[in-house]
Amino acid sequence: MSKTIIISNRLPLQISIEDDKLEVTPSVGGLATGLKSFHKDGDSIWIGWPGLTKEEIPENLLEKVQSEAKKENCVAVNLTSDEIDGFYYGFSNRTIWPLFHYFMQYTESEDEYWQYYKQVNQKYADEIIKHYEEGDVIWVHDYQLLLVPNMIREQAPEATIGFFNHIPFPSYEVFRTLPWRDEVLKGVLGADLIGFHTYDYERHFLSSVSRILRYQVDFNEVTLPDRIVKVDSFPMGIDYKKFEDAALEHFKNTEKEQSELQQRLDHHLNATPNAKMILSIDRLDYTKGIAHRIRAFEYFLDKNPEYIEKVRLVMLAVPSRSNVPQYRRLKREIDELVGRINGKFSTVSWTPIWYFYRSLPFENLIDLYTSCKIALLTPIRDGMNLVAKEYIATRTDHTGVLILSEMAGAAHEMNEALIINPNDFEQVSAALKQAFEMPEEEQMERNKRLQKRLRRYSVEKWAQDFMKALKKTRENQDSFQ
Ligand code: UDP
Ligand code: G6P
Repeated sequence: MSKTIIISNRLPLQISIEDDKLEVTPSVGGLATGLKSFHKDGDSIWIGWPGLTKEEIPENLLEKVQSEAKKENCVAVNLTSDEIDGFYYGFSNRTIWPLFHYFMQYTESEDEYWQYYKQVNQKYADEIIKHYEEGDVIWVHDYQLLLVPNMIREQAPEATIGFFNHIPFPSYEVFRTLPWRDEVLKGVLGADLIGFHTYDYERHFLSSVSRILRYQVDFNEVTLPDRIVKVDSFPMGIDYKKFEDAALEHFKNTEKEQSELQQRLDHHLNATPNAKMILSIDRLDYTKGIAHRIRAFEYFLDKNPEYIEKVRLVMLAVPSRSNVPQYRRLKREIDELVGRINGKFSTVSWTPIWYFYRSLPFENLIDLYTSCKIALLTPIRDGMNLVAKEYIATRTDHTGVLILSEMAGAAHEMNEALIINPNDFEQVSAALKQAFEMPEEEQMERNKRLQKRLRRYSVEKWAQDFMKALKKTRENQDSFQ
């Protein structure tokens, strides 16, 4: 029976070793959290990195790592620490990630990183070929594996290959600065179908293909010498039911069953009944506009002192890619900003910012989503931003206000949110005020519309649509030949 082979750099499960024992935790990040639901329900295997380098796994535990992965229908790819440095911390996160998010000043063009990127992409492609049987569908994910589609095509010319890019694709003027632009585009074009979250990313990709490679592009098709490749946009959804059900379940819990975090949140709410909590959740990443958000919050408090003691920013920043200098610098900047602003505004009974630098288990995320009447998400660039969708899905009484950056892919589908430009503090501050004052009926009206859309365009529908389009592309190609 044919299967789907999912492939992404990071597996949905992360393995760590504590006192010779394996610990398995879920991965953070939109790709893993979103795709997990599709993988769980279907007949698929998932190939990727379990989060440990080869050197970190003792010989006697190698088998065990593989068998833990296998329990979840996953295959663990072993990467050495040099490969992780050059491919992951190097080319993926010091070249492609900043460039594709328009942070050109952070983009490094080291040939050594590129060599590792090619080597590791080949390693992934070879691993796929080991598991591939005729009739299988191969679905490659994200910017760490841009060369993989063509590497598979070289070994299995008949294979059905889809590729999905989870981050923005930049405009031609930005993409053209990459020294390895031809190879990268040719790598992706090994796929039959290439998917992006938004129409803009799709157009940017097609314009790069036509201007750099000079291939013929008609509407959303690229004509190669031997094949036609289709390019389309598929905005990724969430497992709506999972978040809705978790929120409903959360409200059923008696006081005794509540988490420590929830008790602390309730304590705050009870002590200041008119106060509201503003939530933000992201990986600690410079693309997420965390520093902008804190500064805009300061601007808001300066301008509206009547909100002092009536508002609290609850900020969860998940540690991410801390071997990359920009991320370490950002961490220091955020620590300082939080300290300065808490120092500036705190009173004996109140601190304006609660800052958590860690990842939280799912139940605690639900505590945060359901307790905060406002969510403030201000990315400077973001492929999609699933947190915005998850927040709305958990608002089961339909109250709550989402303030969302127009630079997030999700903003295209979430017009009923308060859409802001994260660089415009005046606008962010005005949106916060509007959120505070918004009548409940209006909140409910906006959220009901958002919820209806998010429920319909769930992650399941997203995956089905992509798969359907991939099969159709293949049928058209086969009849064309
Ligand atoms: N998330 C998580 N644990 C945390 C914080 C966040 O699993 O402690 C999840 C969150 O629920 C969401 C994902 O991480 O599904 C973040 O995805 P998003 O698209 O917002 O941003 P990304 O990290 O992919 O850039
Ligand atoms: C984004 C990327 C994913 C990545 C995730 C977490 O969602 O699109 O590919 O897995 O961030 O980043 P990390 O570097 O920890 O895998």
